[in-house]
Amino acid sequence: MDFRSQVFGLDALSGVAADALLLVVGGDEAARRLDPVLRALLADALKSGDFEAKAGGSLYLHRPARVKAGRVLFVAAPTAGAKGFRSAIAAGIGQLKSLGVKHVAVAMSGDGGLSAAHAEAAVTATTDAVYTYRDTKPSAPKPPALARVSVLCSQAELKAVQQGLRRGRAVAAGVALARGCANRPGNHCTPTYLAEQARKLGREFDLKVDVFDRKAIEKLGMGSFLAVAQGSEEPPRFIVLRYEGAAKTQAPLVLVGKGITFDTGGISIKPSAEMDEMKFDMGGAASVLGTLRAVAELKPKINVVGLIPTCENMPDGRSIKPGDVVTSLSGQTIEILNTDAEGRLILCDALTYAERFKPATVVDIATLTGACVIALGHHHSGLFTADEALAGELLGAGLAALDTCWRMPLDEEYDEVLKSNFADMGNVGPRAGGAITAAMFLRRFTAKYRWAHLDVAGTAWKSGTAKGSTGRPVPLLTHFVLARAG
Ligand code: BES
Ligand code: MN
Ligand code: ZN
Repeated sequence: MDFRSQVFGLDALSGVAADALLLVVGGDEAARRLDPVLRALLADALKSGDFEAKAGGSLYLHRPARVKAGRVLFVAAPTAGAKGFRSAIAAGIGQLKSLGVKHVAVAMSGDGGLSAAHAEAAVTATTDAVYTYRDTKPSAPKPPALARVSVLCSQAELKAVQQGLRRGRAVAAGVALARGCANRPGNHCTPTYLAEQARKLGREFDLKVDVFDRKAIEKLGMGSFLAVAQGSEEPPRFIVLRYEGAAKTQAPLVLVGKGITFDTGGISIKPSAEMDEMKFDMGGAASVLGTLRAVAELKPKINVVGLIPTCENMPDGRSIKPGDVVTSLSGQTIEILNTDAEGRLILCDALTYAERFKPATVVDIATLTGACVIALGHHHSGLFTADEALAGELLGAGLAALDTCWRMPLDEEYDEVLKSNFADMGNVGPRAGGAITAAMFLRRFTAKYRWAHLDVAGTAWKSGTAKGSTGRPVPLLTHFVLARAG
């Protein structure tokens, strides 16, 4: 898809050459700046009640007289901000994509004007709206004809719009990569597949990629990660990706993604209803790949390392059993009370491994707990960190990217429940506060650097008829990296 900026006055909009004009109507001043033809159409639509200038309002006009574009679609934006703009574009493109439209011109009539965030939102909303999974579905509908989106703006807005489009393209490609991985079934998206994707990324962009197999992981001493992997015939991988955008002496940001390519729960097996969704349990890993892709395209001056421990969690004759004690890479021992709390077991070794990069900051991303879904639902990812400044950065990145997170507590008191009579810690506490105790478990491996944890169990995918990966939190992470690079 080709996204372009085009300087074009709202007062001449009826003359724009495109197959469709998507006009986002935001704010009360909406009509005032429009050219007479469109202003009359809009006024009439509002007066007749066919179009309401509030969230969800839209009106399609086919070949309206004296308008060059063959189709006009009014879509109301509840606010003139980027968030309202994004929903309006998503709804508008959703409606236009089936019409055989090749070129859509997008404009906003409102008082606010277009910022980089608007332009970025136009790209991500459009790519989201036209995405169809087809990797294992030959009968999937053909991709829509839509090939070009022009964002119309004023000369004064042009620079910001261009910058937003560039960012949007990179974020959208990162999101698409993450969605592509997470949507693939577990028998296709294996640890080996994820490693291949990482290698491919490394070749396409300038990334250094190392992949460790079971033997090499044993040599590293990742006893906790290997304990999860031992119940599966599918060989585990530990993937290291490095983006070097700054001097080697500059401490890197390290992103760690949970890569469970299928989570049956192991011996503490999950109920069978909806177990298929546990193919998405590598959503954190997918977001690390997607973010590194976006970053490698945008080339900010910063060093970023991606770490992905990836394996399956299966019941087997060789599986870990409740009560088993394993030794993590950190030397701390863990009593595995519940084999379904496997994410933390693979992450803890990756977090210890992160120490060798002498990182400025480490952020892990994981579909870690059902408890986080209960706490926050599907809108915000859970953010856990004791570092105020880091919390501010991640919350801010989420807002800027329209991919938000919400801060959760991480007080010392929550650590109590991890005590074990047979090891340095157990891997679970009671049900209450399960997302927090999971974070407290990880915290025990992060004493040597600034650290934050994102629980994306509720945000990395959707259930129900829209079942599939969202690509979150690639937008948040990309913004976080860019903001750090300054
Ligand atoms: N991958 C799951 C968490 C999950 C659950 C993600 C639902 C998305 C939707 C994780 O490995 C898990 O099973 N966690 C357990 C932890 C429990 C045993 C302490 C959970 O949340 O039930
Ligand atoms: Mn599990
Ligand atoms: Zn899991």
